[in-house]
Amino acid sequence: MAFTWGVATSAYQIEGAAAEDGRTPSIWDTFAREVVGETGDVACDHYHRMPADVQLIKSLGVNAYRFSTSWTRVQPNGRGPANPAGLAFYDRLVDELLGNGIEPWLTLYHWDLPQELEDAGGWTNRDTAYRLADYSELVLSRLGDRVQNWSTVNEPWCVAYLGYAYGVFAPGRRDFGAAVAATHHLLLAHGLQASMLKKAGKTVSIPLNIGTATPASDDPVDIAAAWRADGNVARIFLDPLRHGRYPADVVADLAARGYELPVQDGDMEIISTPIDLLGVNFYFGQDFAGRDLDGNTVDASGHPVVREIKPDVPQTDLGWPITPDRFTTLLLRLHRDYGYPLVVTENGAVYEDHPDGDGFVEDTERTAYLTAHVDAVAAARAQGADVRGYFAWSLMDNFEWAEGYAKRFGLVHVDYETQTRTPKRSALWFRDRIASGI
Ligand code: NOJ
Repeated sequence: MAFTWGVATSAYQIEGAAAEDGRTPSIWDTFAREVVGETGDVACDHYHRMPADVQLIKSLGVNAYRFSTSWTRVQPNGRGPANPAGLAFYDRLVDELLGNGIEPWLTLYHWDLPQELEDAGGWTNRDTAYRLADYSELVLSRLGDRVQNWSTVNEPWCVAYLGYAYGVFAPGRRDFGAAVAATHHLLLAHGLQASMLKKAGKTVSIPLNIGTATPASDDPVDIAAAWRADGNVARIFLDPLRHGRYPADVVADLAARGYELPVQDGDMEIISTPIDLLGVNFYFGQDFAGRDLDGNTVDASGHPVVREIKPDVPQTDLGWPITPDRFTTLLLRLHRDYGYPLVVTENGAVYEDHPDGDGFVEDTERTAYLTAHVDAVAAARAQGADVRGYFAWSLMDNFEWAEGYAKRFGLVHVDYETQTRTPKRSALWFRDRIASGI
């Protein structure tokens, strides 16, 4: 089987045309306007430039493109019939990709919950899972004849915790119990989508941001803290998906704080519907210590301390530590503990771009980051991990959520004044790397 090489984007981050052809606001339209101060109203104007962007993708030599469909473009307000104009856009995109020899990898939910559904409780409301399944069916029935690879819910941890507990992502809520409920409802949504997609014979994946929780030392207190951190971000999703149950230690920790996952009869069977691939979105690893700065192992409420420490290594311009070795470790761990075939559905880096007179960006650091991480994938494969693909994040600079446009992840530079796209050095490197193989 040929290795899948791709670039990735998501709808709200690149499309623009936020109020066109029947699209209605999502929670990110609201949050971007009210909190971030920059919006996806225009973004990369991809909605109007799609055929040229497909040529750009083709010029990178990739054989796959990962994108998402916008829920409120396909199904305004998140309920009821499909919006023909919205679906027609993705219909054209898929045809354009296939016509150029590029395999579409479609993500159904990349964070753009219809605002009307948030007003009804959002991911804290169990009904949202059924609404997502309903919208997913609309997309499947229109594109299922041509799209084989489907991802369900992108990075559910970010949706639940950054969105509902820590308030840094849409919808900006700060309520840990809401995030716990959201966790379960996102998994339920995934399970409903997965079972529908499997019945239709599709290849199904879920892209998780798993990271690596490494103990800060070999002190048992640090080892326990890292395991707790891993439970909260990784195992709370992986164990239900793979084994149909939440990890007992995570459930106990939640109970000690007065929280409970709102599981109903039959949910875990749905959630553990077998999938074909695990998507891995990897950017950096973290260390964890079980003592606070004063040496205490419990906090003021009597709960164990889990303190994140940034590994002492160089960082990207987003302040994210560069830890390619841990990427190899993670891929091997996922292969060993969960047995899924793996696809890297995102990996990339922010660096400040300085275009020269011709708009060219000599992004040596991004190129080095990507080289080290593709090498890390190759190393994991050499040691037995079944990694079947690698998608660079991102095709082009775009709307980086709470960071707005200042932070650039693109392999292709975007001049937002003119919408000119210029491949950076990293894009040229990627094309060559693809040609020489993994
Ligand atoms: C994860 C998300 O899926 C993507 O939308 C985001 O831009 C990248 N990580 C970088 O933060």
